[in-house]
Amino acid sequence: MKDYLGIINFRHACKIFDENKKVSREDIDYILEAGRVSPSSTGLEQWDFVVITNQELKQKIREVSWNQVQMTSCSHLIVVLAKISDLKSDSQYVANMIKRRPDKTPQELQNRINFYKNFITENFKDDDELLYTWAHAQCMFAATNIMNAAAFKGIDTCAIEGMDRHAVGKILNIDTKKHRVAIMIPVGYRLNEQPPKYRRKTDDVITWIE
Ligand SMILES: Cc1cc2nc3c(=O)[nH]c(=O)nc-3n(C[C@H](O)[C@H](O)[C@H](O)COP(=O)(O)O)c2cc1C
Repeated sequence: MKDYLGIINFRHACKIFDENKKVSREDIDYILEAGRVSPSSTGLEQWDFVVITNQELKQKIREVSWNQVQMTSCSHLIVVLAKISDLKSDSQYVANMIKRRPDKTPQELQNRINFYKNFITENFKDDDELLYTWAHAQCMFAATNIMNAAAFKGIDTCAIEGMDRHAVGKILNIDTKKHRVAIMIPVGYRLNEQPPKYRRKTDDVITWIE
């Protein structure tokens, strides 16, 4: 197993994938599993994943994603969707997510449901924009785990927000009340060597308070 920082440094924004190399089903399942078990605020898993291998669909998405070549050269395109309506205070999703805990009594579960509903109402007011901002932040944790799990397997990715979100949603027939596109992650094998990493210096980033 590689050293963890070695994995982190292997990951880079891959600009072009080798179209002749496909990621195996076993590896893509492993990568998606890392996304599925990611942490999320209040444990509500505010994401859904769509995995695209269809070349025509990838081409259509590329046309509304700054024409970035990653979109069509990748083996698999993972679209991370942020939940919206499922996160509203009256949603069955929220209740179901809490009810799945067999270790809690019915009263404890009801208290938890009430607590979460109040939390959501107070913070996000059942407003689509506020809920999207919250869900999007959670999707970024899933996206990070997806990219790092891929790197662990020697597989490349690129986080993609260079897109017209609404246009991508339209292509995927997404109901905007239910979901919005958070981020896309093309997955595959690099065609070119990884460029050097440019990062701020440690002292510039980290302040210690002792
Ligand atoms: C949220 C997010 C969106 C990004 N969108 C794009 C994108 O649309 N196209 C692209 O080539 N890179 C994109 N990147 C990659 C960044 O440009 C890249 O991570 C950064 O320059 C650091 O380089 P490295 O990832 O290779 O270390 C995105 C990164 C993040 C985190």
